[in-house]
Amino acid sequence: MTKPNGAACADDTEYCTAVLEDFERGLDPANPTARSGVQVLGYGEVSAALALEALPGQVCKRMAGLRDRDATERYQSLVDHYIRALRASGVAVVDTRVVAVHAAGRRPVVYLLQPRLAAGGLGNTLLREADDATMLGCVDRVLVALFDLWDANRRRSDGLELAVDAQLSNWHFPSTEAGPGTPALFDVGTPYVRRGASYQIDLEIFLAAVPPLLRAYYRRARAVEEYLDHYFDPRSVALDLLGNFHKEGRPDRVAKAADRVNAWLAAHAAEFGHRRPVDAGDVARFYAHDAAQLELFLKVRRLDRFIRTRLLRTRYDFVLPGAIRR
Ligand SMILES: Nc1ncnc2c1ncn2[C@@H]1O[C@H](COP(=O)(O)OP(=O)(O)OP(=O)(O)O)[C@@H](O)[C@H]1O
Ligand SMILES: [Mg+2]
Repeated sequence: MTKPNGAACADDTEYCTAVLEDFERGLDPANPTARSGVQVLGYGEVSAALALEALPGQVCKRMAGLRDRDATERYQSLVDHYIRALRASGVAVVDTRVVAVHAAGRRPVVYLLQPRLAAGGLGNTLLREADDATMLGCVDRVLVALFDLWDANRRRSDGLELAVDAQLSNWHFPSTEAGPGTPALFDVGTPYVRRGASYQIDLEIFLAAVPPLLRAYYRRARAVEEYLDHYFDPRSVALDLLGNFHKEGRPDRVAKAADRVNAWLAAHAAEFGHRRPVDAGDVARFYAHDAAQLELFLKVRRLDRFIRTRLLRTRYDFVLPGAIRR
């Protein structure tokens, strides 16, 4: 491995792979920052976003839970396909490289590599700090992208249906003189692609972090499918977008943004079918329910980590968040 040399090496996938292999060998997922030169930018429900000193200007999102090389290749090509299909549907996506890392004696992991975007353009920053007009401009921009995607789904001939997690905190908004520009999605680690009721992503990836006894229960209850289904319903996606205002500490802005959502639901009533408007109460209830589900999912994963690291004293594969303020 040659020495890092700024932007030049960031474009070199072979170099990045070598850095990530080295990082992975030294990583204790139960304690990711124990090693120097790594910063956790954000914990997702499934992946962890890391910044490595050895890859300046890049964000590396680590996805574990892949059984073997085949599962890894399937996941990689699904993410690539998802990004291409989103772009073809009119949704801008941040450049993303999907890199598999195979370290001897370990389960494979995949890193999604993206340029590190300026914090000022991230949706969560704008949601927390921008003035009302800018924040509402962001909401409108995302709603336009959501309709484009919904409309493109209707015109697809391959029977697939695509969705996105539309929370503002998953988009980067370039700033223009006329306010926030066309947003680019960067949260693409969970490809929401289904054909009928059947998901393209191997749902076992989500269950891999759950204690084995509970996995059977989740499978029988179709818990993961049910959770993912709401991303395909325009009203639910909008409720989720607004619910995220609570997580980001700005529930005071829900009512104004809900007006924009309701104008959007009304404008597309012919396409979406008439959907009940949303109000702040609907958003609070939706958020409370979602947060409780995610908290439970996190608790069972922590239980699995406890069993594996403390009782069985085996290696643990996942980077889990600490306490999340929901
Ligand atoms: N390309 C990027 N540049 C700068 N910051 C980023 C970038 N990608 C992610 N982040 C930061 O990390 C956080 C989490 O990233 P992201 O939304 O992609 O994944 P996630 O929510 O962890 O995904 P999931 O829940 O699906 O695992 C973001 O909210 C943002 O603050
Ligand atoms: Mg996210």
